[in-house]
Amino acid sequence: MRAPLAVLLAPCLVACGSSGAPTPPAPDLVVLTDVNPDPRIVEVELVAAPATVELLAPDKPADVWAFHDGADPDAAGTIPGPLLEANLGDQVIVHFRNDLPDATTIHWHGLRIPNEADGTPASQVPVPPGGTYDYEMTIVDAGLFWYHPHVAGDVQVERGLYAPVLIHGGVEPDVAADRVFVLDDVKLEASGQLSTQTGALDLMLGRRGNVVLLNGKQTPTITAAAGSRERWRFVNAANGRYFQLELPGHMFRVIGWDGGLVDAPYQVERVLIAPGERHDILVELAGADGDELALRTVHYDRGHDIPDPGPIDLLAIRLGPATDPPADLPTTWGDVAPIATDAATPRRSFFLAEDDGDPTSPVFTINGEAYPDITPITGASGAVEIWVVHNMTEMDHPFHLHGMSFQLLDADGAPLAPLGWKDTVNVPRMTMQRFAVELGGIGTWMYHCHILEHAERGMMGELEVTAP
Ligand code: C2O
Ligand code: CU
Repeated sequence: MRAPLAVLLAPCLVACGSSGAPTPPAPDLVVLTDVNPDPRIVEVELVAAPATVELLAPDKPADVWAFHDGADPDAAGTIPGPLLEANLGDQVIVHFRNDLPDATTIHWHGLRIPNEADGTPASQVPVPPGGTYDYEMTIVDAGLFWYHPHVAGDVQVERGLYAPVLIHGGVEPDVAADRVFVLDDVKLEASGQLSTQTGALDLMLGRRGNVVLLNGKQTPTITAAAGSRERWRFVNAANGRYFQLELPGHMFRVIGWDGGLVDAPYQVERVLIAPGERHDILVELAGADGDELALRTVHYDRGHDIPDPGPIDLLAIRLGPATDPPADLPTTWGDVAPIATDAATPRRSFFLAEDDGDPTSPVFTINGEAYPDITPITGASGAVEIWVVHNMTEMDHPFHLHGMSFQLLDADGAPLAPLGWKDTVNVPRMTMQRFAVELGGIGTWMYHCHILEHAERGMMGELEVTAP
């Protein structure tokens, strides 16, 4: 049996490579135990199973579905699930066991990995109850990613099956803490149990929670030194909620997006994170010993006149005594080579539409087709294409492509600054978003809206990448 300390330290002792010890993740995130002594191999055992957690209040348990560490005999399911931590270049082996009553898969959102590890019904037979599957991948990108099922995603992710993946490597700015924050909302009954009600508005917007969670907690508290610089990496794991973050009196320095660092950081007062997206930011915590700051989400107009009261506090930051000021920021960041496109680069158009004639069963389509009744598109590995996503609806849709990352282009097709890698991009209502993509590994890859109710009601397609 492993002592809890060993569980916490094991990933660092055996997997940190030459980049030094990673800073600890946010409090309350459990790290998957690396059972392989080879420093370049991270081998973990992951289980999905029914679990009981407390989301509403300490004496109000919720019966959920959750991931836990199969290598730790004492591990209980948590929301979010355990963090998978590795270094750039590592080989990762995940021995997965499904202890749920339904079939499932695990999709490694944003990681560029072989198709057979992509965890969708297009890339594997779903794992039946009691079944197992090994996901094997070599890590080629550093940043924050996440994992979740890709069968009945609207139900399974909502029940609690989601967790972060943190890949260390590349430029590491000097920070007092490097924290992973997983954002979600859940719809709870007064008893604390997950609500069984899914209304018409939930189908239209993605099931909306009445309780907002950061790392599975309502407004948790962290402590930080006054004046210190911290790195916060966010992933939005909600079915449908948009988070627009602000820390009153502070600016965020955005250093990275979904697929790693951007080439030139920029400062903003607010960061919008659509479902599925990630943002990597630096913040310098101004204030004095004893001050308390509040990170919150504020109203964002995503269309359809959606009621969205706010602000809602997500995190309390209690400032302690000041320490030495942080070191200068690096002068170079992400090494992002632009994907070269020109007037001859093939274009593909995607038209996102919704038919809410019957609000109890809305249908969402891409190019007039509703998954699974779709015609896969095909292309050759290595081909460069410009994808143009037209949102023909009165609400925003976050468009996600599996297995490859893309670069945003402006309306004329020129690269947008800064340069960075995205795998999920919000397409605001009645607008169009272009991006350049180099088709990746051979196999069938899904693309879809990351509002999971939309994906599971048609807004999903397949890209078959063939040998060049
Ligand atoms: Cu995060 Cu196809 O999903
Ligand atoms: Cu959508």
